Amino acid sequence: MKFLSYFSSALALLGSAVTAHPVFNELMTPVAPLKRATGAFQQVPNFGPNPSGAKFFLYTPNRIAENPAIVVAIHYCTGTARAYYSGSPYAQLADQKGFIVIFPESPYSGTCWDVSSRSTLTHNGGGNSNAIANMVTWTLERYNADPKKVFVVGESSGGMMTNVMAATYPEMFAAGIVYSGTPAGCFYSQSGAVNAWNNTCSNGQINSTPEVWAKMVFDMYPGYDGPRPKMQIYHGSNDNILHANNYRETIKQWCGVFGYDPNRPDTTQSNTPQWGYTTYTWGNGQLVGVYAQGVGHSVPLRGQDDMRFFGL
Ligand SMILES: *[C@@H]1O[C@H](CO)[C@@H](O)[C@H](O)[C@H]1NC(C)=O
Repeated sequence: MKFLSYFSSALALLGSAVTAHPVFNELMTPVAPLKRATGAFQQVPNFGPNPSGAKFFLYTPNRIAENPAIVVAIHYCTGTARAYYSGSPYAQLADQKGFIVIFPESPYSGTCWDVSSRSTLTHNGGGNSNAIANMVTWTLERYNADPKKVFVVGESSGGMMTNVMAATYPEMFAAGIVYSGTPAGCFYSQSGAVNAWNNTCSNGQINSTPEVWAKMVFDMYPGYDGPRPKMQIYHGSNDNILHANNYRETIKQWCGVFGYDPNRPDTTQSNTPQWGYTTYTWGNGQLVGVYAQGVGHSVPLRGQDDMRFFGL
């Protein structure tokens, strides 16, 4: 199955998660309308080797902090860098906080991210993950940015890619936030296809142990044993594009990597951060899961909460 047909329906669902469930209409915090960002949004044509052909768009606020942080914000299928620049809260937040935003853009028709090929699932493997890492390296150098404050966030296909970035470039990111994605490696294609759909994963039929999931992550960067990003995972219970079982499997994956028991979170807070959502934490917030009861695909972005998780 090709991404486009799936994600045309996904697009129709984007932003409708709230209205689809009448009970939430009254109870969910209204999302403030986005204000226009005031800095510069532009494409960077040359940023180093880019065999997979991903495009690089950069948002720089008018007042960039000294040694700024970098947030990589990865769009959903059918999305573009420009659509995510204007439709996500990260450019406005950059205006407030002085960080730089990288908006990568998928090179494929349908604009999903390649989370299926061996090359994208490998550190320096030449795929989309490698391209995004090269965008980060370019930005670190060009803006004298703080290598300890590089973050990644994305939703849907961008959420899947966020898990892949955290797995393939653990040394690069301090934290990652996944909205409605799948575990790193869950879309792996047996035939080695680039940008392939994987029904078994999207339907939530992959059930692995934390050890198997963790090995998949370790194999994406063999020999690496340095620090890894802290992770926050959002998923809606009624997700009909990327089944909610992907929430549990993603939690198992990072629990396996960090050595936590997925069945024993340190804390469980119901109706947090809002009614119907439950927040689970492991390892003093190294891993945070937010399961959104009654919410579909995909969970609405929570920009201010993202800033808190990133420490910005
Ligand atoms: C789908 O992904 C799983 C791993 O999550 C893999 O075992 C399976 O072979 C993939 N399916 C195809 C058709 O490649």
